[in-house]
Amino acid sequence: MKMNPWTLSVLLLLAGPLGADPGWQVEYPDSFCVVEGSTATIPCSFTHPAGQRVERVVWCPNHEICHLTTPNVYNSSNVRADSRFQYLGDLVRNCTLKIIKTVKQDAATYHFRFEANGDKYTKKKGVGVTVTDGEDVKVRSSVTDNVVKEGGQVTLTCTSACSFHRLDVHWYRNGHALSETGPALHLSCLTNNNTGNYTCSLDSSGRKTSAPWSLVVVEDEGRHKCDSDRSVTVSVVSVLLAVILLLLAGLVFAKRSAPGPEHEIVYSEVVR
Ligand SMILES: *[C@@H]1O[C@H](CO)[C@@H](O)[C@H](O)[C@H]1NC(C)=O
Ligand SMILES: *[C@@H]1O[C@H](CO)[C@@H](O)[C@H](O)[C@H]1NC(C)=O
Repeated sequence: MKMNPWTLSVLLLLAGPLGADPGWQVEYPDSFCVVEGSTATIPCSFTHPAGQRVERVVWCPNHEICHLTTPNVYNSSNVRADSRFQYLGDLVRNCTLKIIKTVKQDAATYHFRFEANGDKYTKKKGVGVTVTDGEDVKVRSSVTDNVVKEGGQVTLTCTSACSFHRLDVHWYRNGHALSETGPALHLSCLTNNNTGNYTCSLDSSGRKTSAPWSLVVVEDEGRHKCDSDRSVTVSVVSVLLAVILLLLAGLVFAKRSAPGPEHEIVYSEVVR
């Protein structure tokens, strides 16, 4: 059948929103970094042409096809109960893989394969999983000096080769866990209570812990109560803002109530 380009583009336009056929696809990151001993959750999603029903899903290391006889870490038709590899996905579109208590040997390039009633698909490009020993975990500080004045602030960040991923970061002062979690620890309105040795770790067991960073908060004469300082600043700022707003309102009002005649002249010229 011959089609002129016009008919073809109309058909393509119609096919876009109406019969959107996602085709065979798998989406996951190119690489994933995890600290040895911690848990990795590799996000993954897949799509297939309409009318296909997925019957089997497989994750396998270092193989581009990942067919039935290839060694795998997860196979939906033959689930090993003791595996550290857990499939959090489904047979519809989610293929998220969780690796519990990663070990060095888990470092590999993983491929996801799914088999439907009509056809099968493996993504050629895998997820490169790196497992680091966490020896490089460090506390970095926003200030160069360890001695900070009372009322001041400091932000500590926990870094490692893996720190570009959202990580489960735990913080400690003198070895005691703090309630704050996340890659950055923000300490403000410092008091002597904040003095101590800070460490961070990248897994909740606290095994991969950084070297300590010690903070010394020193008294500052005349700047004692940080909270009242702050409220004074806030009220000064709000009074200033109110004055500025009043002035602006006054200006606008003055302009409106006294329209310059030159405005009207310009306007009528434009109309003509
Ligand atoms: C896939 O499943 C995981 C685990 O249940 C969930 O966290 C994630 O949000 C899901 N992803 C999508 C795209 O639905
Ligand atoms: C913090 O560590 C230093 C040595 O790095 C030590 O001298 C000091 O006593 C420690 N402070 C606390 C509160 O543990």
